[in-house]
Amino acid sequence: MASSPTMLVVICSSLAMAVILSSSSPATGQLDVGFYGKTCPKVEEIVREEMIRILAVAPTLAGPLLRLHFHDCFVRGCDGSVLIDSTASNTAEKDAPPNQTLRGFGSVQRIKARLDAACPGTVSCADVLALMARDAVALSGGPHWAVPLGRRDGRVSAANDTTTQLPPPTANITQLARMFTAKGLGLKDLVVLSGGHTLGTAHCSAFTDRLYNFTGANNAGDVDPALDRSYLARLRSRCTSLAGDNTTLAEMDPGSFLTFDAGYYRLVARRRGLFHSDSSLLADAFTAGYVRRQATGMYAAEFFRDFAESMVKMGGVGVLTGGEGEIRKKCYVIN
Ligand code: HEM
Ligand SMILES: *[C@@H]1O[C@H](CO)[C@@H](O)[C@H](O)[C@H]1NC(C)=O
Ligand SMILES: *[C@@H]1O[C@H](CO)[C@@H](O)[C@H](O)[C@H]1NC(C)=O
Ligand SMILES: *[C@@H]1O[C@H](CO)[C@@H](O)[C@H](O)[C@H]1NC(C)=O
Ligand SMILES: *[C@@H]1O[C@H](CO)[C@@H](O)[C@H](O)[C@H]1NC(C)=O
Ligand SMILES: *[C@@H]1O[C@H](CO)[C@@H](O)[C@H](O)[C@H]1NC(C)=O
Repeated sequence: MASSPTMLVVICSSLAMAVILSSSSPATGQLDVGFYGKTCPKVEEIVREEMIRILAVAPTLAGPLLRLHFHDCFVRGCDGSVLIDSTASNTAEKDAPPNQTLRGFGSVQRIKARLDAACPGTVSCADVLALMARDAVALSGGPHWAVPLGRRDGRVSAANDTTTQLPPPTANITQLARMFTAKGLGLKDLVVLSGGHTLGTAHCSAFTDRLYNFTGANNAGDVDPALDRSYLARLRSRCTSLAGDNTTLAEMDPGSFLTFDAGYYRLVARRRGLFHSDSSLLADAFTAGYVRRQATGMYAAEFFRDFAESMVKMGGVGVLTGGEGEIRKKCYVIN
């Protein structure tokens, strides 16, 4: 599960494979695909150029950069609040427990700095996150979509918001549906966006409860019944103890964790989703139907279109526009 020299090849060939979808996505609320057309016409070109460089050096950043946008949008809306550093008087989202596994902050600031050199004080950090997430997916072999832009950056970031707004990996289908509904997203968005777990890795601590202590009985037989038994054995050999192992990583879509594809659904259908939340998609007739259809491997183009559509929807959650918020100078500090 460690990195291999073939990663670069994966990234390069996926460039050629990237499916360019016709941009039928409408503006979300007051966002607009052409928002920077006059004020920073090269914004997309610059982000893409930098993303190619970043992923060539660090291919494993594709997952984290997609996830940053998700965390940004689910906590206080897509307003760049996930990027803010804590101060003496405020504990920011970054320093809440789920943060320990966020990565890629340096890359965001690097791209923001290049954009500010080309068009000073123009592009928001929230928009940078949305564009980086799209390019992370496209450059990993996934769909490409038009990103509505014009988000403004928020001036608040509170650690305690993450616990109430971000779904935990232990969530069941009821909790997941509730937390997505709270953001204006439906069951379709839930099952489609969960497909983002085709990219990236997770720390053992995010799922060891399923392997050793599912109900709290804390014995060898206390496992998540929703997890395939032979997969359980394999995960146990990787994550050997229950005690918060926050260093060992497991690929979420083993063997293809750097490639954006529909393979996630094949895993989930075989009861090999890594988190309880992934396996919960089988507990509802609609989401299970989507999982099983995609597990056939025959409808990947449909998944790509669905993913693009749901990402645009998620990218519009709670955005600040017009005169709201600010255009942050440094993504990690409020102006
Ligand atoms: C449905 C509810 C979701 C839950 C409960 C959830 C939970 C998690 C957890 C616990 C991790 C592992 C973090 C770690 O231990 O390093 C993770 C990783 C990840 N998540 Fe999700 N997630 C959800 C939805 C999403 C969505 C909507 C996206 C994007 C569309 C997404 C993209 C990712 C990616 C790309 C990673 C890998 C990050 C890396 O490689 O470091 N997740 N998720
Ligand atoms: C996450 O929070 C911990 C403290 O809870 C802090 O030491 C660490 O630097 C934070 N990580 C990031 C990436 O901000
Ligand atoms: C969350 O934290 C903020 C500031 O850090 C505080 O003002 C607020 O009361 C807290 N909310 C809850 C529900 O604890
Ligand atoms: C989901 O979890 C909640 C909170 O833990 C619990 O009350 C509920 O019964 C669970 N629902 C299902 C369908 O398991
Ligand atoms: C097992 O789970 C229970 C209930 O969640 C918890 O109280 C206990 O601390 C866990 N055991 C370990 C070793 O973490
Ligand atoms: C990892 O877990 C250990 C022990 O539970 C804890 O002391 C440490 O702060 C954790 N590290 C991170 C980065 O969260």
